[in-house]
Amino acid sequence: MKTIVLHGSPRKNKNSDTLADNFLLGLNEGVVRETKHFYTNEMNIRPCQGCLSCENAEDKSCIIKDDMQEIYSGFIEADVIVFATPMYWGYITAQLKTVIDRMEALVMWDHFKGKTFVVLITYRHHCESTVAFFARICGFFDVRLHIITCRTYDIETGKDIPISRCKAKIKEAFKLGKSLGSTH
Ligand SMILES: Cc1cc2nc3c(=O)[nH]c(=O)nc-3n(C[C@H](O)[C@H](O)[C@H](O)COP(=O)(O)O)c2cc1C
Repeated sequence: MKTIVLHGSPRKNKNSDTLADNFLLGLNEGVVRETKHFYTNEMNIRPCQGCLSCENAEDKSCIIKDDMQEIYSGFIEADVIVFATPMYWGYITAQLKTVIDRMEALVMWDHFKGKTFVVLITYRHHCESTVAFFARICGFFDVRLHIITCRTYDIETGKDIPISRCKAKIKEAFKLGKSLGSTH
């Protein structure tokens, strides 16, 4: 089983990355599996230009040749795709949205079918829009979907909660990894 992790946050090793780390710890318990990490904030990825070359070209590839090419090949080979992202202004980060828009080329080749998506969202107030987005696309494209959402904010005190104190969610991420590892 091969896994790729699409890191949406510009903050490395913080909240959403910690959930991803713990998911991978569970997944790799016993058997170490091939995993590739893509830190989208550090990659040179242009936004989709809406040219639909991917739809019309014979090889269905994206006309833009940038770092997205690495993600295309990683995605095609992977069984499990992890999307780890904070909520920014009610949605996934711009970095991750740019990657998802460019996935139009993968849709053209029907590369989504049969994949497992693991979506790890950290947030302060709301994450419903992103949960609904993934539920809709995964239903449409025949993708197995697992979502963990983690509020990193205490409404009463108005302060952020360190991810290390979100023990139940960290455990949930580990358990999800372990269970997916045992079925693949
Ligand atoms: C620019 C910015 C916008 C944010 N917008 C939202 C938001 O709309 N909804 C929300 O619940 N949290 C929002 N947050 C809070 C983050 O989603 C939250 O702190 C998250 O745990 C950070 O994850 P990270 O450590 O992986 O970056 C925002 C944070 C920043 C920096």
